[in-house]
Amino acid sequence: MRIDVLTIFPDYLAPLELSLVGKARQSGLLDLAVHDLRAWTTDRHRTVDDTPFGGGAGMVMRPDVWGTALDTVLGDDADGDGTVLLVPSPAGEVFTQRTAEELAGARRLVLACGRYEGIDARVAEHYATRPGVTVREVSIGDYVLNGGEVAALVVVEAVARLLPGVVGNPESLVEESHGAAGLLEYPVYTKPPAWRDLPVPEVLTSGHHAKVTRWRRDRALERTAARRPDLLERLAPEALDREDRRV
Ligand code: ADE
Repeated sequence: MRIDVLTIFPDYLAPLELSLVGKARQSGLLDLAVHDLRAWTTDRHRTVDDTPFGGGAGMVMRPDVWGTALDTVLGDDADGDGTVLLVPSPAGEVFTQRTAEELAGARRLVLACGRYEGIDARVAEHYATRPGVTVREVSIGDYVLNGGEVAALVVVEAVARLLPGVVGNPESLVEESHGAAGLLEYPVYTKPPAWRDLPVPEVLTSGHHAKVTRWRRDRALERTAARRPDLLERLAPEALDREDRRV
């Protein structure tokens, strides 16, 4: 997969050189480039923003600068299909594990990180009409950040770990929170078996595989009911078995 990130703070994206994403880049599983939006400004002050039409506080990012930048980064390649232009915004659709799964199937992602009050709305409108390009404005949660950079880090990490070969053991993608079961993940334990008077739950050291599976399922259900009842409500009735209903 090819990913381009456009931002006025390229240094913000430095963590993408680390850990699994960094390794995926080094091994060629992920081709990722970060671009400084100011490279496409034409004035002495390298201006990227201006005051909002209609008045109000804050500044809005100019469509002309974004247009030149995105035309260059998208190139002719956009005609090849499978490019998703992502615009992080607190006003976007909520980014979930399902969104990450959908994006992991794209050939190419371009992330346009806005600052200030956001990017002139005509930018998203214009690129949505480009053949081969899908525009998605995405929010990583119901809070307001100073810009799209942190959201871009979140999106890139969530998507990159779903690409074949990025996570060493693909099984670790199976039993996760927000995975196929639609539940939060059960609590996990490792050595030592007793720590600060806290023992590991006995069933986990029993060697009884079916009991471990049942115990984990019960804890996942309990946790989900306590912390995210909305997820339980969204489960299809057939996703719960008779044993589940007791929890
Ligand atoms: N930019 C500012 N706040 C944001 C959020 N919650 N999600 C995505 N991008 C943002």
